[in-house]
Amino acid sequence: MAEIIGQISTSHVPAIGGAIAKRLQQDPYWKPLFDGFPPVREWLAKQRPDVAVVVSNDHGLNFFLDKMPTFAIGAAPAYTSADEGWGIPIIEPVPGDQDASWAIIEGAVADEFDVTTCQEMLIDHAITVPLQLLWPDQRAPVRIVPVSINTVQHPVPSPARCLKFGQSIGRAIARWRSDAKVVIVSTGGLSHQLDGERAGFINPEFDALCLDALINDPIRLTQYTAREIVELSGTQGLEILNWITGRGILGGRAHEVVRKYHVPISNTASAVQLLAPN
Ligand code: DHB
Ligand code: FE
Repeated sequence: MAEIIGQISTSHVPAIGGAIAKRLQQDPYWKPLFDGFPPVREWLAKQRPDVAVVVSNDHGLNFFLDKMPTFAIGAAPAYTSADEGWGIPIIEPVPGDQDASWAIIEGAVADEFDVTTCQEMLIDHAITVPLQLLWPDQRAPVRIVPVSINTVQHPVPSPARCLKFGQSIGRAIARWRSDAKVVIVSTGGLSHQLDGERAGFINPEFDALCLDALINDPIRLTQYTAREIVELSGTQGLEILNWITGRGILGGRAHEVVRKYHVPISNTASAVQLLAPN
């Protein structure tokens, strides 16, 4: 049976991709962000996962405002990135794990989650930037299963629904007949708002509450409505739904191996958190 080895959650600001391309890791603006990742990379080098289930939100590359699945799961043999207009490099295609994808899709649908299955899917900065942060010197040595949550357009799923969706995925992985080691990579957040009157809004107190709750009290986050999260964390801060889904996949009790929080990167409260099962 497949084994879930941990959850890595990280912000996915596109400008990080530009900083990587320009080798600005030691630049004073960027250093505090990049300094969070060596301990995560050391853990990955020891754990050597085979598969990464990447929970993120699409930013218009696959789903525009005219078609917006609440939950979508990739089942492609490989995933290519494309120009989103941010001017960041397009990365090499990333291999998929179709066997894992279908095990997860079948499990989720059997659990009454009516997911959109995507046998073709492009990957945007929400996946390419975290992969580059986690495996900077090489092509990511994992096969991926992208899971896309609508954090973008009303009506969005509730935190409670996302936690349950994650738990369903976790059960499907536990049943999947494979000896693969699976890491969860959840991306986005923490607090940020890119447009409107509150553009630039950041809420470090709420971010700290989220990071603490994700360790062993994700239920605490399900007490908020999505609208309340937008108020507390900004419109794009709602990407915390990806982290909550990821925590549902991890399940059980966990301990925090790495936490790094740095404000701001671009418009975003950036964070990386690594949780491992107890
Ligand atoms: C930024 C953050 C995001 O999560 C995103 O998807 C795009 C831009 C930013 O802070 O610039
Ligand atoms: Fe985003």
